[in-house]
Amino acid sequence: MGSKAELMSEKKLRVGILFGGRSGEHEISLLSARSILSAMSPDEYEVIQIGITHEGLWLVGEDILDKFSSGVQLNELTPATIFADPSREGLYVFQGSDQEEIVELLTQLDVVFPVLHGTYGEDGTIQGLFELAEIAYVGAGVLGSSVGMDKGIFRDIMRANDIPQVDTIIVLRSDVENSLDEVIGHAEALAHYPLFTKPANLGSSVGITKCMNRSDLMEGLMDAARYDRRILVERGIHAREIEVSVLGNDDPIASVPGEVIPSADFYSYEAKYIDDRSELLIPAPIPFEISQQVRNLAVRAYRAVDCAGMARVDFLLDKDTGELFLNELNTIPGFTKISMYPKLWEASGLTFEDLVKRLIELAMERRSDRDRTEWRYQR
Ligand SMILES: Nc1ncnc2c1ncn2[C@@H]1O[C@H](COP(=O)(O)OP(=O)(O)O)[C@@H](O)[C@H]1O
Ligand SMILES: [Mg+2]
Repeated sequence: MGSKAELMSEKKLRVGILFGGRSGEHEISLLSARSILSAMSPDEYEVIQIGITHEGLWLVGEDILDKFSSGVQLNELTPATIFADPSREGLYVFQGSDQEEIVELLTQLDVVFPVLHGTYGEDGTIQGLFELAEIAYVGAGVLGSSVGMDKGIFRDIMRANDIPQVDTIIVLRSDVENSLDEVIGHAEALAHYPLFTKPANLGSSVGITKCMNRSDLMEGLMDAARYDRRILVERGIHAREIEVSVLGNDDPIASVPGEVIPSADFYSYEAKYIDDRSELLIPAPIPFEISQQVRNLAVRAYRAVDCAGMARVDFLLDKDTGELFLNELNTIPGFTKISMYPKLWEASGLTFEDLVKRLIELAMERRSDRDRTEWRYQR
Protein backbone atom coordinates (compact mmCIF):
# COMPACT_ATOMS: atom_id res chain seq x y z
CA MET A 1 0.00 0.00 0.00
CA GLY A 2 1.12 3.50 -0.78
CA SER A 3 4.25 2.60 -2.71
CA LYS A 4 5.47 5.23 -5.11
CA ALA A 5 4.45 3.17 -8.12
CA GLU A 6 0.92 2.79 -6.79
CA LEU A 7 0.57 6.46 -6.03
CA MET A 8 1.70 7.24 -9.54
CA SER A 9 -0.74 4.77 -10.99
CA GLU A 10 -3.60 6.43 -9.12
CA LYS A 11 -3.10 9.52 -11.22
CA LYS A 12 -3.23 7.69 -14.50
CA LEU A 13 -6.37 7.88 -16.52
CA ARG A 14 -8.21 4.57 -16.54
CA VAL A 15 -9.32 3.90 -20.09
CA GLY A 16 -11.56 1.03 -21.18
CA ILE A 17 -10.88 0.01 -24.76
CA LEU A 18 -13.80 -1.88 -26.27
CA PHE A 19 -13.25 -3.98 -29.37
CA GLY A 20 -14.75 -6.77 -31.46
CA GLY A 21 -18.47 -6.37 -31.39
CA ARG A 22 -21.47 -7.83 -33.10
CA SER A 23 -21.06 -6.23 -36.51
CA GLY A 24 -19.53 -7.59 -39.68
CA GLU A 25 -16.58 -5.31 -38.96
CA HIS A 26 -15.57 -7.28 -35.83
CA GLU A 27 -12.18 -8.26 -37.30
CA ILE A 28 -11.40 -4.72 -38.50
CA SER A 29 -12.16 -3.53 -34.99
CA LEU A 30 -9.55 -5.91 -33.57
CA LEU A 31 -6.94 -4.46 -35.93
CA SER A 32 -7.91 -0.89 -35.04
CA ALA A 33 -7.77 -1.71 -31.33
CA ARG A 34 -4.33 -3.26 -31.64
CA SER A 35 -2.97 -0.08 -33.19
CA ILE A 36 -4.65 2.14 -30.61
CA LEU A 37 -3.41 0.02 -27.70
CA SER A 38 0.15 0.13 -28.97
CA ALA A 39 -0.06 3.93 -29.04
CA MET A 40 -1.12 4.30 -25.40
CA SER A 41 1.79 4.81 -23.07
CA PRO A 42 1.55 2.78 -19.83
CA ASP A 43 3.05 5.81 -18.06
CA GLU A 44 0.00 7.81 -18.96
CA TYR A 45 -2.87 5.36 -19.06
CA GLU A 46 -4.09 2.34 -17.22
CA VAL A 47 -5.78 0.43 -20.00
CA ILE A 48 -8.54 -2.08 -19.47
CA GLN A 49 -9.26 -4.16 -22.55
CA ILE A 50 -12.84 -5.28 -23.05
CA GLY A 51 -13.71 -7.63 -25.90
CA ILE A 52 -17.24 -8.05 -27.22
CA THR A 53 -17.92 -11.33 -29.03
CA HIS A 54 -19.91 -11.72 -32.25
CA GLU A 55 -22.81 -12.76 -30.01
CA GLY A 56 -22.55 -9.63 -27.85
CA LEU A 57 -20.89 -11.14 -24.77
CA TRP A 58 -18.52 -8.75 -22.97
CA LEU A 59 -15.30 -10.35 -21.74
CA VAL A 60 -12.13 -9.34 -19.91
CA GLY A 61 -8.93 -11.19 -19.06
CA GLU A 62 -5.30 -11.93 -19.89
CA ASP A 63 -4.17 -11.56 -23.50
CA ILE A 64 -7.72 -10.90 -24.52
CA LEU A 65 -6.90 -9.29 -27.85
CA ASP A 66 -4.80 -12.26 -28.93
CA LYS A 67 -7.55 -14.63 -27.84
CA PHE A 68 -10.12 -12.66 -29.80
CA SER A 69 -7.87 -12.51 -32.85
CA SER A 70 -7.22 -16.25 -32.87
CA GLY A 71 -10.71 -17.14 -31.70
CA VAL A 72 -9.36 -19.70 -29.23
CA GLN A 73 -9.32 -19.88 -25.41
CA LEU A 74 -12.19 -17.44 -25.17
CA ASN A 75 -13.55 -19.69 -22.42
CA GLU A 76 -10.64 -18.61 -20.22
CA LEU A 77 -11.99 -15.08 -20.19
CA THR A 78 -14.35 -13.57 -17.64
CA PRO A 79 -17.78 -12.10 -18.49
CA ALA A 80 -18.05 -8.42 -17.69
CA THR A 81 -20.48 -5.55 -18.03
CA ILE A 82 -21.17 -1.89 -17.48
CA PHE A 83 -24.51 -1.21 -15.81
CA ALA A 84 -26.92 1.38 -17.12
CA ASP A 85 -27.50 2.43 -13.49
CA PRO A 86 -25.04 5.28 -12.81
CA SER A 87 -24.83 4.45 -9.10
CA ARG A 88 -23.04 1.23 -10.11
CA GLU A 89 -20.18 3.03 -11.78
CA GLY A 90 -17.36 1.08 -13.41
CA LEU A 91 -16.74 -2.29 -14.95
CA TYR A 92 -18.22 -5.35 -13.23
CA VAL A 93 -17.27 -8.99 -13.65
CA PHE A 94 -19.25 -12.17 -13.14
CA GLN A 95 -17.29 -14.71 -11.12
CA GLY A 96 -18.12 -18.16 -9.83
CA SER A 97 -20.33 -20.79 -11.38
CA ASP A 98 -23.71 -20.73 -13.05
CA GLN A 99 -25.20 -21.97 -9.79
CA GLU A 100 -23.59 -19.30 -7.71
CA GLU A 101 -22.61 -16.32 -9.76
CA ILE A 102 -21.00 -13.40 -7.98
CA VAL A 103 -21.01 -9.96 -9.50
CA GLU A 104 -18.20 -7.72 -8.39
CA LEU A 105 -16.63 -4.42 -9.31
CA LEU A 106 -13.44 -4.97 -11.29
CA THR A 107 -12.41 -1.37 -11.76
CA GLN A 108 -13.64 2.15 -12.10
CA LEU A 109 -13.27 3.68 -15.55
CA ASP A 110 -12.53 7.33 -16.29
CA VAL A 111 -13.33 7.01 -19.95
CA VAL A 112 -14.13 4.37 -22.55
CA PHE A 113 -13.05 4.21 -26.16
CA PRO A 114 -15.47 2.15 -28.24
CA VAL A 115 -13.21 0.91 -31.04
CA LEU A 116 -16.23 -0.72 -32.62
CA HIS A 117 -17.21 -0.25 -36.23
CA GLY A 118 -20.73 -0.59 -37.59
CA THR A 119 -23.87 -1.96 -35.99
CA TYR A 120 -24.12 -1.77 -32.16
CA GLY A 121 -20.83 0.11 -31.97
CA GLU A 122 -20.96 3.08 -34.26
CA ASP A 123 -24.72 3.54 -34.49
CA GLY A 124 -25.59 5.17 -31.17
CA THR A 125 -26.73 2.05 -29.33
CA ILE A 126 -23.67 1.55 -27.15
CA GLN A 127 -23.34 5.32 -26.84
CA GLY A 128 -26.82 5.21 -25.25
CA LEU A 129 -25.49 2.83 -22.61
CA PHE A 130 -22.56 5.15 -21.87
CA GLU A 131 -24.94 8.09 -21.52
CA LEU A 132 -27.13 6.19 -19.06
CA ALA A 133 -24.10 5.00 -17.11
CA GLU A 134 -22.67 8.54 -17.18
CA ILE A 135 -19.29 7.39 -18.46
CA ALA A 136 -17.12 9.65 -20.60
CA TYR A 137 -16.59 8.11 -24.02
CA VAL A 138 -14.62 8.82 -27.16
CA GLY A 139 -16.48 9.92 -30.26
CA ALA A 140 -19.92 11.02 -31.27
CA GLY A 141 -22.97 10.84 -29.03
CA VAL A 142 -26.20 8.95 -29.65
CA LEU A 143 -27.60 11.31 -32.25
CA GLY A 144 -24.42 11.97 -34.25
CA SER A 145 -23.68 8.25 -34.28
CA SER A 146 -27.11 7.14 -35.44
CA VAL A 147 -27.45 9.85 -38.07
CA GLY A 148 -23.96 9.09 -39.34
CA MET A 149 -24.93 5.44 -39.58
CA ASP A 150 -28.22 5.81 -41.44
CA LYS A 151 -27.45 6.71 -45.03
CA GLY A 152 -31.04 7.74 -45.71
CA ILE A 153 -31.59 10.15 -42.82
CA PHE A 154 -28.05 11.41 -43.26
CA ARG A 155 -28.76 12.50 -46.84
CA ASP A 156 -31.92 14.34 -45.76
CA ILE A 157 -30.01 16.27 -43.10
CA MET A 158 -27.24 17.10 -45.56
CA ARG A 159 -29.77 18.36 -48.12
CA ALA A 160 -31.44 20.52 -45.47
CA ASN A 161 -28.02 22.09 -44.92
CA ASP A 162 -27.31 22.60 -48.63
CA ILE A 163 -24.53 20.05 -48.66
CA PRO A 164 -24.48 18.42 -52.12
CA GLN A 165 -25.79 14.85 -52.25
CA VAL A 166 -26.21 12.33 -55.03
CA ASP A 167 -29.82 11.66 -56.06
CA THR A 168 -31.25 8.88 -53.94
CA ILE A 169 -34.53 7.14 -53.28
CA ILE A 170 -35.36 5.00 -50.28
CA VAL A 171 -37.41 1.85 -50.65
CA LEU A 172 -38.54 -0.64 -48.07
CA ARG A 173 -37.80 -4.34 -48.06
CA SER A 174 -41.56 -4.96 -48.13
CA ASP A 175 -41.79 -2.86 -51.33
CA VAL A 176 -39.06 -4.96 -52.91
CA GLU A 177 -40.90 -8.12 -51.89
CA ASN A 178 -44.41 -7.00 -52.81
CA SER A 179 -44.10 -4.48 -55.64
CA LEU A 180 -40.77 -4.98 -57.33
CA ASP A 181 -41.96 -3.60 -60.68
CA GLU A 182 -42.94 -0.31 -59.10
CA VAL A 183 -39.62 -0.07 -57.25
CA ILE A 184 -37.75 -0.67 -60.49
CA GLY A 185 -39.85 2.01 -62.18
CA HIS A 186 -38.91 4.54 -59.50
CA ALA A 187 -35.27 3.57 -59.57
CA GLU A 188 -35.00 3.84 -63.34
CA ALA A 189 -36.72 7.24 -63.23
CA LEU A 190 -34.00 8.44 -60.85
CA ALA A 191 -31.11 8.21 -63.31
CA HIS A 192 -29.52 6.13 -66.05
CA TYR A 193 -27.49 3.08 -65.10
CA PRO A 194 -25.21 2.54 -63.29
CA LEU A 195 -27.30 2.74 -60.13
CA PHE A 196 -26.06 1.76 -56.68
CA THR A 197 -28.18 -0.23 -54.24
CA LYS A 198 -27.24 -0.23 -50.57
CA PRO A 199 -28.70 -1.11 -47.19
CA ALA A 200 -29.37 2.08 -45.17
CA ASN A 201 -27.50 0.97 -42.06
CA LEU A 202 -24.30 -0.89 -42.77
CA GLY A 203 -20.68 -0.25 -43.64
CA SER A 204 -17.63 -1.76 -45.31
CA SER A 205 -19.58 -1.88 -48.60
CA VAL A 206 -21.45 -4.99 -47.42
CA GLY A 207 -24.68 -5.42 -49.39
CA ILE A 208 -23.74 -2.69 -51.92
CA THR A 209 -24.10 -3.39 -55.64
CA LYS A 210 -23.16 -1.36 -58.67
CA CYS A 211 -26.02 -2.13 -61.03
CA MET A 212 -25.34 -1.85 -64.75
CA ASN A 213 -28.78 -2.97 -65.91
CA ARG A 214 -32.22 -4.07 -64.75
CA SER A 215 -31.25 -7.58 -63.79
CA ASP A 216 -28.36 -6.26 -61.67
CA LEU A 217 -30.84 -3.88 -60.06
CA MET A 218 -33.18 -6.71 -59.12
CA GLU A 219 -30.32 -8.69 -57.65
CA GLY A 220 -28.91 -5.62 -55.90
CA LEU A 221 -32.24 -4.82 -54.28
CA MET A 222 -32.66 -8.39 -53.04
CA ASP A 223 -29.15 -8.46 -51.70
CA ALA A 224 -29.48 -5.13 -49.88
CA ALA A 225 -32.80 -6.34 -48.47
CA ARG A 226 -30.94 -9.14 -46.67
CA TYR A 227 -29.18 -6.56 -44.51
CA ASP A 228 -31.77 -3.91 -43.79
CA ARG A 229 -35.44 -3.13 -44.11
CA ARG A 230 -34.60 0.23 -45.72
CA ILE A 231 -32.69 0.30 -48.97
CA LEU A 232 -31.17 3.17 -50.93
CA VAL A 233 -31.02 3.35 -54.70
CA GLU A 234 -28.59 6.00 -55.92
CA ARG A 235 -27.40 7.55 -59.10
CA GLY A 236 -23.96 6.10 -59.78
CA ILE A 237 -21.23 8.69 -60.09
CA HIS A 238 -18.10 8.11 -62.15
CA ALA A 239 -16.09 9.33 -59.26
CA ARG A 240 -12.78 9.93 -57.57
CA GLU A 241 -13.03 9.15 -53.86
CA ILE A 242 -11.78 11.89 -51.58
CA GLU A 243 -11.71 11.53 -47.79
CA VAL A 244 -10.94 13.96 -44.99
CA SER A 245 -10.51 13.55 -41.23
CA VAL A 246 -12.33 15.79 -38.78
CA LEU A 247 -11.43 16.13 -35.10
CA GLY A 248 -12.99 18.13 -32.27
CA ASN A 249 -16.16 18.88 -30.34
CA ASP A 250 -17.57 22.40 -30.62
CA ASP A 251 -14.71 23.64 -32.82
CA PRO A 252 -13.90 20.80 -35.18
CA ILE A 253 -10.95 20.99 -37.55
CA ALA A 254 -10.32 19.16 -40.82
CA SER A 255 -7.12 17.48 -41.97
CA VAL A 256 -5.63 17.56 -45.43
CA PRO A 257 -7.81 15.42 -47.74
CA GLY A 258 -6.66 12.08 -49.12
CA GLU A 259 -7.72 10.04 -52.12
CA VAL A 260 -8.54 6.36 -52.38
CA ILE A 261 -7.77 4.55 -55.59
CA PRO A 262 -9.88 1.40 -55.26
CA SER A 263 -8.43 -1.76 -56.73
CA ALA A 264 -11.85 -2.71 -58.11
CA ASP A 265 -14.63 -1.11 -60.11
CA PHE A 266 -15.76 0.57 -56.88
CA TYR A 267 -14.54 0.56 -53.27
CA SER A 268 -16.06 -2.82 -52.46
CA TYR A 269 -15.45 -5.03 -49.40
CA GLU A 270 -12.77 -6.94 -51.34
CA ALA A 271 -11.06 -3.72 -52.43
CA LYS A 272 -11.15 -2.42 -48.85
CA TYR A 273 -9.90 -5.42 -46.93
CA ILE A 274 -9.06 -8.44 -49.04
CA ASP A 275 -6.96 -7.85 -52.11
CA ASP A 276 -4.64 -5.28 -50.52
CA ARG A 277 -4.23 -3.43 -53.80
CA SER A 278 -6.24 -0.27 -53.13
CA GLU A 279 -4.04 2.78 -52.80
CA LEU A 280 -4.23 5.81 -50.56
CA LEU A 281 -2.83 9.06 -51.90
CA ILE A 282 -1.99 11.53 -49.15
CA PRO A 283 -2.49 14.37 -49.70
CA ALA A 284 -5.05 13.94 -52.48
CA PRO A 285 -3.72 15.34 -55.76
CA ILE A 286 -6.55 17.85 -56.18
CA PRO A 287 -6.51 21.62 -56.68
CA PHE A 288 -6.28 23.77 -53.58
CA GLU A 289 -9.81 25.16 -54.07
CA ILE A 290 -11.33 21.68 -54.13
CA SER A 291 -9.35 20.73 -51.07
CA GLN A 292 -10.68 23.80 -49.23
CA GLN A 293 -14.20 23.00 -50.36
CA VAL A 294 -13.84 19.42 -49.08
CA ARG A 295 -12.61 20.62 -45.71
CA ASN A 296 -15.36 23.22 -45.33
CA LEU A 297 -18.13 20.85 -46.34
CA ALA A 298 -16.77 18.17 -44.01
CA VAL A 299 -16.81 20.51 -41.02
CA ARG A 300 -20.29 21.74 -41.91
CA ALA A 301 -21.56 18.18 -42.16
CA TYR A 302 -19.90 17.32 -38.84
CA ARG A 303 -21.66 20.20 -37.13
CA ALA A 304 -24.96 19.46 -38.85
CA VAL A 305 -25.16 16.00 -37.30
CA ASP A 306 -23.77 17.23 -33.95
CA CYS A 307 -20.78 14.96 -34.22
CA ALA A 308 -18.09 14.91 -31.51
CA GLY A 309 -14.60 13.51 -31.15
CA MET A 310 -13.88 12.36 -34.67
CA ALA A 311 -15.24 11.43 -38.07
CA ARG A 312 -13.90 10.56 -41.47
CA VAL A 313 -15.96 12.33 -44.10
CA ASP A 314 -16.00 10.78 -47.59
CA PHE A 315 -16.71 12.50 -50.88
CA LEU A 316 -17.36 11.54 -54.47
CA LEU A 317 -15.74 13.89 -56.97
CA ASP A 318 -17.36 13.45 -60.39
CA LYS A 319 -14.63 12.74 -62.94
CA ASP A 320 -16.85 13.93 -65.78
CA THR A 321 -18.31 17.15 -64.40
CA GLY A 322 -16.04 18.05 -61.48
CA GLU A 323 -19.07 18.13 -59.14
CA LEU A 324 -18.40 17.29 -55.52
CA PHE A 325 -20.84 15.19 -53.47
CA LEU A 326 -20.54 14.42 -49.79
CA ASN A 327 -21.10 10.67 -49.57
CA GLU A 328 -20.87 9.72 -45.92
CA LEU A 329 -19.62 10.47 -42.44
CA ASN A 330 -18.05 7.65 -40.44
CA THR A 331 -17.99 8.31 -36.72
CA ILE A 332 -15.63 5.42 -35.84
CA PRO A 333 -13.45 5.09 -38.93
CA GLY A 334 -10.86 2.38 -39.48
CA PHE A 335 -8.06 3.15 -37.03
CA THR A 336 -5.08 0.95 -37.83
CA LYS A 337 -1.67 2.54 -38.33
CA ILE A 338 -2.24 2.38 -42.08
CA SER A 339 -5.85 3.60 -42.07
CA MET A 340 -6.85 6.82 -43.78
CA TYR A 341 -8.15 8.57 -40.63
CA PRO A 342 -4.88 8.61 -38.64
CA LYS A 343 -2.74 8.84 -41.79
CA LEU A 344 -4.43 12.09 -42.76
CA TRP A 345 -3.72 13.51 -39.32
CA GLU A 346 -0.11 12.42 -39.55
CA ALA A 347 0.12 14.29 -42.86
CA SER A 348 -1.42 17.29 -41.11
CA GLY A 349 1.15 17.21 -38.30
CA LEU A 350 -0.55 15.14 -35.60
CA THR A 351 1.08 11.81 -34.73
CA PHE A 352 -0.94 8.65 -34.09
CA GLU A 353 -0.06 8.83 -30.36
CA ASP A 354 -1.11 12.46 -30.06
CA LEU A 355 -4.30 11.76 -31.97
CA VAL A 356 -5.33 9.05 -29.50
CA LYS A 357 -4.46 11.37 -26.62
CA ARG A 358 -6.50 14.19 -28.13
CA LEU A 359 -9.52 11.93 -28.61
CA ILE A 360 -9.41 10.97 -24.95
CA GLU A 361 -9.15 14.62 -23.94
CA LEU A 362 -12.11 15.46 -26.14
CA ALA A 363 -14.12 12.71 -24.44
CA MET A 364 -13.31 14.17 -21.02
CA GLU A 365 -14.17 17.69 -22.21
CA ARG A 366 -17.49 16.51 -23.53
CA ARG A 367 -18.22 14.80 -20.26
CA SER A 368 -17.55 17.99 -18.27
CA ASP A 369 -19.74 19.93 -20.64
CA ARG A 370 -22.51 17.40 -20.10
CA ASP A 371 -22.13 17.84 -16.34
CA ARG A 372 -22.97 21.52 -16.74
CA THR A 373 -26.38 20.68 -18.16
CA GLU A 374 -29.28 20.87 -15.74
CA TRP A 375 -31.46 17.81 -16.10
CA ARG A 376 -34.32 19.00 -13.90
CA TYR A 377 -36.30 22.13 -13.94
CA GLN A 378 -35.58 24.05 -10.75
CA ARG A 379 -37.40 27.21 -9.91
N1 LIG B 1 -23.64 6.91 -55.70
C1 LIG B 1 -22.45 6.33 -55.90
N2 LIG B 1 -21.74 6.54 -57.05
C2 LIG B 1 -20.54 5.95 -57.25
N3 LIG B 1 -19.95 5.11 -56.37
C3 LIG B 1 -20.59 4.86 -55.23
C4 LIG B 1 -21.86 5.46 -54.92
N4 LIG B 1 -22.25 5.02 -53.71
C5 LIG B 1 -21.28 4.19 -53.28
N5 LIG B 1 -20.29 4.06 -54.19
C6 LIG B 1 -19.10 3.20 -54.08
O1 LIG B 1 -19.34 2.23 -53.07
C7 LIG B 1 -18.44 2.41 -51.96
C8 LIG B 1 -19.16 2.15 -50.65
O2 LIG B 1 -20.28 2.98 -50.52
P1 LIG B 1 -20.56 3.83 -49.22
O3 LIG B 1 -21.78 4.62 -49.45
O4 LIG B 1 -19.33 4.58 -48.90
O5 LIG B 1 -20.88 2.72 -48.13
P2 LIG B 1 -20.02 2.10 -46.91
O6 LIG B 1 -20.64 2.68 -45.70
O7 LIG B 1 -20.26 0.65 -46.98
O8 LIG B 1 -18.60 2.51 -47.08
C9 LIG B 1 -17.95 3.83 -52.12
O9 LIG B 1 -16.69 4.00 -51.50
C10 LIG B 1 -17.89 3.97 -53.63
O10 LIG B 1 -16.77 3.27 -54.15
MG1 LIG C 1 -17.78 4.35 -47.48
